[in-house]
Amino acid sequence: MIELTPHLDNEKKEPLYVQLYHYIREEIQTGNIAPGVKLPSKRKLAAHLGISQNTIETAYQQLNAEGYVKSELRKGVYVKKLAGDLYPYSSRISFHNKKVTKNHDEQYKFDFSHGKVDLEHFPYSTWRKLTVQSLYEENSEIFFNGDPKGDTNLREEIAQYVFQSRGVTCSPEQIMIGAGTQYLLRLLTMLIGKESIYAMEDPGFHRTRAVFKHENVKTISIPLDEEGISLKHLEESRANAVYITPSHQFPFGTIMPINRRLELLKWAEAKGRYIIEDDYDGEFRYIGKPIPSLQGLDFKDSVIYLGTFSKSLIPSIRLSYAVLPTALVNQYDQHLTIYKQTVSRLHQHTLFLFMKNGHWKSHLNKMRNVYRKKQHMLVASIKKYIGNKATIIGEKSGLHILLQVHNQMSELELIKNALKKKVKIYPTSIYYEQYKADKPMVLLGFGGLSETEIDEGIKLLKDAWFNEKDENTVQSMNDADQ
Ligand SMILES: Cc1ncc(COP(=O)(O)O)c(C=O)c1O
Repeated sequence: MIELTPHLDNEKKEPLYVQLYHYIREEIQTGNIAPGVKLPSKRKLAAHLGISQNTIETAYQQLNAEGYVKSELRKGVYVKKLAGDLYPYSSRISFHNKKVTKNHDEQYKFDFSHGKVDLEHFPYSTWRKLTVQSLYEENSEIFFNGDPKGDTNLREEIAQYVFQSRGVTCSPEQIMIGAGTQYLLRLLTMLIGKESIYAMEDPGFHRTRAVFKHENVKTISIPLDEEGISLKHLEESRANAVYITPSHQFPFGTIMPINRRLELLKWAEAKGRYIIEDDYDGEFRYIGKPIPSLQGLDFKDSVIYLGTFSKSLIPSIRLSYAVLPTALVNQYDQHLTIYKQTVSRLHQHTLFLFMKNGHWKSHLNKMRNVYRKKQHMLVASIKKYIGNKATIIGEKSGLHILLQVHNQMSELELIKNALKKKVKIYPTSIYYEQYKADKPMVLLGFGGLSETEIDEGIKLLKDAWFNEKDENTVQSMNDADQ
């Protein structure tokens, strides 16, 4: 039974029954009360609103007379389905729809968000089956709070997985599961210390910078060079911890070569220094051989490895993990078990079953192919429509690229012009702190779009960024390229 809570005002000139009638009519017209729904009984609604049953009766009668509801003897009053031409449903969007989808769809046709993943290939039925399986009585244990670090069986699966696919060597005891990278980073500042000085890439992941800021820890911006974070600047800084994204620098996409990795590990050998390695999308690599994680190369116990299921599975599961060096595991056990685990045990158990039964491996293999094809389409479409009038940056791995567009437009103009064509693309300036980009750049994620959508989206971007006059130039530059 639905609950109606209109604002009825005794001071208004309109009688109460008219106010109630208007309220319900509007709710039906906008779709907030769906066809077939039973309205509350006169007695219940009168008690709920503190008005007489007669007032309700009159409002219901009026709605009935106008065809909005149907009164069924001894059953109740039901909302009728309105014929489309009787009331322009579509032009009056329900409050909920307006907020969640409709408005969004109307604004953008193609959203090149880097936070979205492919849902077409998500194993819905397997996930549903395993979720239900997790709810059987023999698993009722998971209805209680579990290990603050996360369920042991899931940590065992993760330990095996990160070793096989990313070369991370650890025991399940070193793994700390948590609801998101930012949450884990907060815990890490407690483990490494609030007095420590944290260096981070500039440009770098804005959400990490926000955590450091909100945790009130001193942060130093380190510029990038062609191999990733500048070691020279890091050495000159007073930092004793550094946050980096070596497998796919965020947002630039640089893959840190092995030498720079070894140099960084050397830097971290000094007492009390830590490297926080965020490997957020290291699973997806399109060109060249995989480079082992920094953690796998570290023999001095100075690397904290961060992984997430947000890109490789779905972002809303909120399941991320940190692999701690043994010194920090001890600290964790002494000081942080007071914090309860933040990831639902139902999701943890479902993911455990998913990994244990081999679905995770096949899902990853499938997604590698899916994203490889999408990425190829993205690069091919940019070459086809925009040619040399744009430079692609960071196309070797991950689920996004950067685009430098050679048309004199600022970042804002690039975004605004794209929006006019209903294409949503993203700024890169928000990732800079102390340093600045030489040229405007935009970020394009492709995980959530189909290959056809990617192609159509890029075509629209060409229209948004280059006028007719330029087209011949694009064409001739393409020709020159072959
Ligand atoms: C650099 C970086 N790190 C980590 C993540 C994942 O964050 P979370 O695990 O909180 O979903 C992302 C996702 O966009 C990211 O871009």
